[in-house]
Amino acid sequence: MATRPEDVEPQPRPARAAARPGPLAPPMDLAELIADRETRIVVCCGSGGVGKTTTSAALALAAAQAGRTVVVLTIDPARRLAQSLGLVELNNEPRRVDVPGAEGELHAMMLDMKRTFDDIVAAHSTPERAEAILENPFYQSLSSSFSGTQEYMAMEKLGQLRASNQWDLIIVDTPPSRSALDFLDAPNRMSRFLDGTMIRLLTAPARAGGRAGLRFASAGFMFFSKIISKILGGQLLRDISAFVAALDTMFGGFRERATATYELLRRPGTWFVVVASPEPDALREASYFVDRLSAEGMPLAGLVLNRTHPPATTALSATRAEGAAEEAAESGAEGAEVAAAALRVHAERMVVAAREQHLADRFTSAHPEVAVRTVPAAAGDVHDLDGLRVMAGELTAPDADTPTGIPRTRVLPARRG
Ligand SMILES: Nc1ncnc2c1ncn2[C@@H]1O[C@H](COP(=O)(O)OP(=O)(O)O)[C@@H](O)[C@H]1O
Ligand SMILES: [Mg+2]
Repeated sequence: MATRPEDVEPQPRPARAAARPGPLAPPMDLAELIADRETRIVVCCGSGGVGKTTTSAALALAAAQAGRTVVVLTIDPARRLAQSLGLVELNNEPRRVDVPGAEGELHAMMLDMKRTFDDIVAAHSTPERAEAILENPFYQSLSSSFSGTQEYMAMEKLGQLRASNQWDLIIVDTPPSRSALDFLDAPNRMSRFLDGTMIRLLTAPARAGGRAGLRFASAGFMFFSKIISKILGGQLLRDISAFVAALDTMFGGFRERATATYELLRRPGTWFVVVASPEPDALREASYFVDRLSAEGMPLAGLVLNRTHPPATTALSATRAEGAAEEAAESGAEGAEVAAAALRVHAERMVVAAREQHLADRFTSAHPEVAVRTVPAAAGDVHDLDGLRVMAGELTAPDADTPTGIPRTRVLPARRG
């Protein structure tokens, strides 16, 4: 098992510790990755709020600009972003987004979880049966609120988009789960749930009744079943029974589909991009995810460290900026206050950048092979094509091409060895 950053014991300092350079993460070439025709699926994952949806949309835009016919499957995009992508009406199908000057095509869709579930039911049963399932209250709550349904349906939709063969690249955003791992666990959890002992037990009378009367229902079981019926309420139990009985023919279907989509994620041409903000929790989650991907043999493109705060210049350290600010303030000269304020802002910025770099270094120490790309925080939210264009540039520009000379793998320059 790979080490997590927080497990790394402080090492005894070697004699020349001060001269050692920090860990250097390999650069990540997302421009090449999305331009490569062999790349067919890119999955953006990470914990909630780190910028998965924005990164997915920006990468899709970059891909369209690079000439690809791309679809981005977004999940719960922020309202203004959805609007600027033309996704105000939910119809669970991709729509073309007009990108002036793009060589390729950008299509975007917003996942409608319930509708995706309904479509599966319709595709896998007779019309009468489908109607019975769709009207079943238990199905209705399962399809709109069961934890994991959204993750499962995202996988399902991905499978559908891939099968339709209309796009040469699919970029997938993942649900705003607490844990990034939920996305990978969803198919299994869903089929375990539908196939679970509890559900089988609860619905045993209905099944036995259908096939061979109550022959199997012992007095003890009937007693148990009555108690459960009291606790859960008779109606719910009948709902569940009816639902499972109707879904019976689909059990194999669900499991097979889950397995097929999971396999799709392991095929050559699929890449994962892990997104994190420079915060301990987000990076810890990214760390777990990286370990899990490697355990499952799924290919990782690298880590996008989003919303970093690189300083405008690194020529002036925080300490020196603080000192200069004090001197300026004391001098009382004309304009000194403004200069002092600017110097203090710079000093703060250097402290923030140092903290962010420290967190990034910890991640890289634990995962030295994982490529990193930093994306500076934009001044405001990223909610329109212009904002996405800027972000696309940050994600795909050459590693060394920055105004400050700091490579895009870092927030601050590496210490010289
Ligand atoms: N690099 C960035 N600079 C500024 N704002 C950003 C950046 N990346 C994301 N945001 C903003 O952060 C918020 C959360 O981003 P979002 O992509 O919805 O996160 P997630 O999908 O991971 O929950 C959005 O309001 C988005 O505009
Ligand atoms: Mg999101």
